[in-house]
Amino acid sequence: MTDHTGLAIRFLTSMAQALATMSLYAEGHPARARAAVASFDTLRDLQQADPRPSFSFLGSEVIYGQQAIRGLTDWEWATKLANVGVQRLEFADMVERHAYVSFLEDVLARVSAFTAVAAANVPVGRGNGPTAIRFGAVGVRSASEVRLPDSTVQAAERPSILDLNAEVDAIRWVHDEVNDREEIPLLEAESIVRSLSVAMHGDSQMLLPLLQLKEFDQYTTTHALNVSVLSMGLAEFMGLSPREVRAYGVAGMLHDLGKVRVPKDILTKPGKLTPEEWSIMRSHTVEGARLILQSDQKLDVAALVAFEHHIMINGGGYPDRHFRCDCHKASTLVHVCDVYDALRTKRPYRDAWEPAATLAYIERGIGTEFDADVAKAFIAMMGKWEPRLAYASLSPAAA
Ligand SMILES: [Fe+2]
Ligand SMILES: [Fe+2]
Repeated sequence: MTDHTGLAIRFLTSMAQALATMSLYAEGHPARARAAVASFDTLRDLQQADPRPSFSFLGSEVIYGQQAIRGLTDWEWATKLANVGVQRLEFADMVERHAYVSFLEDVLARVSAFTAVAAANVPVGRGNGPTAIRFGAVGVRSASEVRLPDSTVQAAERPSILDLNAEVDAIRWVHDEVNDREEIPLLEAESIVRSLSVAMHGDSQMLLPLLQLKEFDQYTTTHALNVSVLSMGLAEFMGLSPREVRAYGVAGMLHDLGKVRVPKDILTKPGKLTPEEWSIMRSHTVEGARLILQSDQKLDVAALVAFEHHIMINGGGYPDRHFRCDCHKASTLVHVCDVYDALRTKRPYRDAWEPAATLAYIERGIGTEFDADVAKAFIAMMGKWEPRLAYASLSPAAA
């Protein structure tokens, strides 16, 4: 746990001071070196207490390890760093002074040359060669930076330009973290959901920003984003509280997390799965719930949804249970959104279904596969908001 918040605040403050001082003096001026070294000393103090500190800069929020730093809420550098693509800063090992100084120089160059376009395209981990300092975008943006479609778009027109690349990068980063560390970066996952929620409400009317799959190997990320958006839309449509809507958004985003443990050749197999392959595939439910619970007990709804999202209302589906149980409302809701997105997406073994056929399938499944209230609400939501579906495709940079 992080009892070193004071040291972390001292370090961040000194880093900001160093960057501010360095920007005032020309390269080679001794004042630049002095500021950088003073800041390095605070980093060394921090690393003595916490050898691998990590920070996320999300909008105006600063997250140190697993907790938000309150004393720095209005720290303008959080936004400045995030704007130049430094949304995540990790010190993987004890940092050498020269590596830290060149990191500061790099950040300073970005701040001076900042343009919105450049900032949106900085991937995670692009530091200066091999270094103990990793930094980059986790793709989470503050509300003011989310690019929305033209607000003059009429209800009948489909907004066609929607930039979800940052959210996609962030979801992919979350999956990588789970793979590498068996831990879900919860705060970052929540801010992706916040960012999606902003994209849904930024216009005067509700918008469902979905991704259209272009490459099969993007399915996991695309599907996670779409199910998150649809689950939040449906939860909101059904009148749930904003807190529940966000929790359902996180659950929708993480519902298939267990698939990080399923081999890729099974996930993308074009033909029928063998019984052994099926049982591995089905284990993503149990595996997902385990991964989520071991990362954070507070994600109990997301863990339940990961476990229950393939259980049918009549008790069928999987995982196998020894007794019939009523699923959590979030699971029945994510279940419908999951099936909708899966059928609407082209897969290696079949074409994408048309919207009307997909909704008809959901209607036919009422009472057997789907909960009646939830499925009816989903069909009504699509009837109302279908003109507000906004499909985006990934830019080549995000592919
Ligand atoms: Fe699933
Ligand atoms: Fe799914």
